[in-house]
Amino acid sequence: MKTRKPMVAGNWKMNKTPTEARDLIRGLLPELKDVEAVDVVVCPPFVCLGVASVELAGSKIALGAQNLHWQASGAYTGEISAGMLKELCQYVIIGHSERRAMFGETDESVNKKVLAALAAGLKPIVCVGETFDENQAGKTAEVVGRMVWEGLKNLDAEQAALIVVAYEPVWAIGTGLAATPEGANSVHKDVIRPILREMFGAEVGDGMRILYGGSVTAANAAELFAQSDIDGGLIGGASLKVESFTAIVKAAL
Ligand code: 13P
Repeated sequence: MKTRKPMVAGNWKMNKTPTEARDLIRGLLPELKDVEAVDVVVCPPFVCLGVASVELAGSKIALGAQNLHWQASGAYTGEISAGMLKELCQYVIIGHSERRAMFGETDESVNKKVLAALAAGLKPIVCVGETFDENQAGKTAEVVGRMVWEGLKNLDAEQAALIVVAYEPVWAIGTGLAATPEGANSVHKDVIRPILREMFGAEVGDGMRILYGGSVTAANAAELFAQSDIDGGLIGGASLKVESFTAIVKAAL
């Protein structure tokens, strides 16, 4: 029996207008209304958060953003602060590999964002994962380990308990080539979990959820989620349709 409550989070990335977001949420709500044993989160683009928060009010589905800035306010044109998000949502994805690869996100900026999110009362979903070349060079443990150590530094155990880690091997994202359940689980169990225990103590480290992300589908979700240290998923493409996202959530039950 797993003691950690599973979580399935949908990262919509740069998809859905506010109207489309409303329609997708209206499709999900009746399908997922009885799901209590899984924490379900949807993470639409910033401009959809307002309508999404209205649609989700009173439901069991939580809302998350996909990024934030670490400053509280000021002359940062185009940026969004933790305090702004806190009025609308509960979670925020930080350090997604697309942001690291395309928008200059570093372990240092990830750590600043994690601290800012926590200070505002948001729960971070912190993404880590190696590239194909790093994987082939046998550097998975080194790269993922560094991302966890650096991204989560200067947190106390109480703050750490609010963090969700998402292991997303870059080579598995959007490729249709998911990691094998055993392969992903070994990164969760033998690389990430021991570091969390070392950083925050055994009890907190064992209680923190580690999600898997990268080509999760309705077909492969159950096998992934059955692994000892895969505590749910961070879902990209398959979170954009009611049927596939619902099936993935139910695979975590
Ligand atoms: P896909 O599920 O589309 O592979 O994306 C995974 C992901 O990046 C979620 O954050």
